[in-house]
Amino acid sequence: MPNLTRRRFLTGTTALTLSALAGVPTLSAAPRTTALTAKPSRVAFFGKDAPSTDVWSYGSVPGPQLRVKQGERLSVSLTNELPDPTTIHWHGLRMVNAMDGVPYLTQEPIQPGETFTYDFIAKDAGTYWYHPHVNSAEQVGRGLSGALIVEEPDPIEVDRDIVWVVDDWRIKKDAGLAEFGGFHDMAHGGRMGNMATINGNYDEKFSVQSGERIRLRLINTANARVFGLQFKGLNPWRVAVDGHPVIPSQMEEGLVVIPPGGRTDLVIDFRGNPGEKFAIIDNYYQRQPFTLIEGSYTDQPPVRTEALEPPKKMADNPVAQPDLANAERHDMIFEGGAMGGLRQAELNGEILGLRELASQGLLWAVNGKMYPHMTKDDLGEPMLSMQQGKTYILTWTNNTAFDHPIHMHGHSFHVISRNGEKLETPIIMDTVLIQPQQSVEVAFVADNPGKWALHCHILEHAEAGMMGYVTVA
Ligand code: C2O
Ligand code: CU
Repeated sequence: MPNLTRRRFLTGTTALTLSALAGVPTLSAAPRTTALTAKPSRVAFFGKDAPSTDVWSYGSVPGPQLRVKQGERLSVSLTNELPDPTTIHWHGLRMVNAMDGVPYLTQEPIQPGETFTYDFIAKDAGTYWYHPHVNSAEQVGRGLSGALIVEEPDPIEVDRDIVWVVDDWRIKKDAGLAEFGGFHDMAHGGRMGNMATINGNYDEKFSVQSGERIRLRLINTANARVFGLQFKGLNPWRVAVDGHPVIPSQMEEGLVVIPPGGRTDLVIDFRGNPGEKFAIIDNYYQRQPFTLIEGSYTDQPPVRTEALEPPKKMADNPVAQPDLANAERHDMIFEGGAMGGLRQAELNGEILGLRELASQGLLWAVNGKMYPHMTKDDLGEPMLSMQQGKTYILTWTNNTAFDHPIHMHGHSFHVISRNGEKLETPIIMDTVLIQPQQSVEVAFVADNPGKWALHCHILEHAEAGMMGYVTVA
């Protein structure tokens, strides 16, 4: 196998010393510390001569990329300079409940002017992200999100490791963000944007050298848009989903589907000739395909001409193996929304008509119940109370007219079947896309005690009642 230069991984001295820590989660190790400030700011999506856009950011859009080694402890102090309370949730990374960032459920919201320090161990390697969990539809939609990369001790060797935070925005003619809180978005498919960005750039450039092998980490931070990407002629290898390694398989002409909240790591061998061009097309919503990005090969001679071996599968994260034979089973049927045919649902023990529920901003139900907005005084009942150490199999069924990427905090689950069809090799995820009239079975060991949010990651759906919590004790 030809030699690879591990430019991003093994240059400098820090990588060497920190790798000694990998896989050794110990609280005594000094944390890597960083500070973030959430505040209103502006970005010039369309160049410095065009009108700019008022956003909320952690200093930049997306926020700074946080990068640690697996097993390292990370301490992030967040100062809130927004007009509203906020928190940070570390999406997909399993950690102690108190650091999970869900207002009232795991912490008091951080008030304007306050600082809160998150401190946790990154026990799982892979691609994760961070975002607020207070009024997420608005706060994430205004630009608050960033990548959190946890490096494997033994990653796939590549020439470059690139992170793409993929987002969409609903921009008005004056370049400002459209108003938040639209009822139509809540009842339908969420706030779909009219402009996509990569790493906050509307015209991101992507240039590769012929022969390069690149790890491309895709993070979908959009409120509602599912990305379904076509890498024509590039035949990417899918090597991880939601941070967790999978057996690498080549996604030839198919779509790489990434729901809001989801991540996919690809390894791509760029085998085109110097000077050639290529395009990455989004074709999830088949009536509206668009070019996410155009890339080009530099004129430099190829880094290598011989083909590389297929990428190896990376080591699994320490996710407990579910004990399927002794699992407890539960169904969660998602209902409601526009064109969903739901007429009534139960709220706090009372059956109410949809109109009345809608007037309280509740549009979506689970098993015929609506869950109230989780507030200081009313967290509502848990959707499910689980016993620590036990395996659970949840069947999630989408009986609505819209997609729902269902996300559970505190655990990564094995997706073991789709529409009654068993998956040959289960995939470990934290956000699973369930299309209309489809169902999935997920299995996991309830091994992380606490109160964990469970919600749709179309943030307008979560806001309209498609969010509750489960407990593990
Ligand atoms: Cu990415 Cu509960 O969220
Ligand atoms: Cu949804």
